[in-house]
Amino acid sequence: MASVTLRNVCKNYDKDVHAVQDVNLEVADREFVVLVGPSGCGKSTTLRMIAGLEELTSGEISIGGQAVSHVPPKDRDIAMVFQNYALYPHMTARENMAFGLKLRKMPKEEIERRVRDAADILSIAPLLDRRPGAMSGGERQRVAVGRAIVRKPKVFLFDEPLSNLDAKLRVQMRVEIKRLHTRLEATMIYVTHDQVEAMTLGDRIAVMKDGRIQQVDAPMDLYHRPANRFVAGFIGSPAMNFLEGRLVRDPGLVFQDGAVRFPLPESYERSLANFVDKPLILGIRPESLSEVGPGEAGDGQIPATVEVVEPMGSEVLLYATTGRSQLVSRMPADRMPAIGERVRLSFDLSRAHLFDGVSEMAIR
Ligand SMILES: Nc1ncnc2c1ncn2[C@@H]1O[C@H](COP(=O)(O)OP(=O)(O)OP(=O)(O)O)[C@@H](O)[C@H]1O
Ligand SMILES: [Mg+2]
Repeated sequence: MASVTLRNVCKNYDKDVHAVQDVNLEVADREFVVLVGPSGCGKSTTLRMIAGLEELTSGEISIGGQAVSHVPPKDRDIAMVFQNYALYPHMTARENMAFGLKLRKMPKEEIERRVRDAADILSIAPLLDRRPGAMSGGERQRVAVGRAIVRKPKVFLFDEPLSNLDAKLRVQMRVEIKRLHTRLEATMIYVTHDQVEAMTLGDRIAVMKDGRIQQVDAPMDLYHRPANRFVAGFIGSPAMNFLEGRLVRDPGLVFQDGAVRFPLPESYERSLANFVDKPLILGIRPESLSEVGPGEAGDGQIPATVEVVEPMGSEVLLYATTGRSQLVSRMPADRMPAIGERVRLSFDLSRAHLFDGVSEMAIR
């Protein structure tokens, strides 16, 4: 197995399309790293450059400590699994999986052994003599993964391999891919736009936007310590709430957003000294926002009007508006507020996130 290193990697498709900009990423041997971000942010381009399917405009990629700029894709010892499976329709599952090995003139017995092993790992032994046309989407995806496994590559690259599957199958395959990573002890780089998939699969996650990496961290660190507003809003579902206000002095520090007013304790003086009379963004996770009972009046409450209520079974998601902002709160399932009802919400300030209103970087 091997590490993968990207140094100052850039890709311009033409002078106006800067698909990937100055990407630096270190994937350790046997690590599972997920690249996540919205459509068009440069995930596939990054992966395709690692695979050698796309040339770099500048920068350098190494696999196992070796610079690979001049190494053709077939000699990079990597296997890629695509969203559309890319199986040969006229070949059986067995032939599809064996094809790459035959091209490499591997002895027949060795090919058969590898195909059988992979089929066992993926529970597709009964499908080996079927063609893709006679398989379900999930089965085809398994064969596509099998075709990667038989190569015993140093590095596995996955580009949205589950996005053609229905929700239930996606969850099941997600667990299988995680199991596969443990079992094969392989280095894996996995691209998805689905933040839940990223959170559940990755040892570490690289969040991308507009061709740039915004933050690389372990899932829970991304969740609890997002580097900027984009990452804060992208990771977590439903997304973090943002109140866009100003910091004023009156007489202590106060965050103000229209009708909403939060006095901040003195412990914030040091980190916020430079932000007085400037725009400030307050980020609150839906689970940190709760309803205030009747009679509990006080500062720091947000008056809001219920717009939509989503009963999820284990919890209720309450969407409400306050002034200019839309808020969502995760609430216990024991109450169903009515549409149009006036509620008051509050949150624990120690669990809120603060962002510079101009640069949108987190303030710690
Ligand atoms: N062959 C190409 N020629 C010109 N522009 C391209 C080409 N391939 C990709 N792009 C552009 O580069 C940017 C990044 O594309 P990329 O496919 O890497 O995005 P992505 O993050 O994988 O998105 P998605 O989630 O939709 O797959 C996009 O703006 C895209 O339009
Ligand atoms: Mg893509």
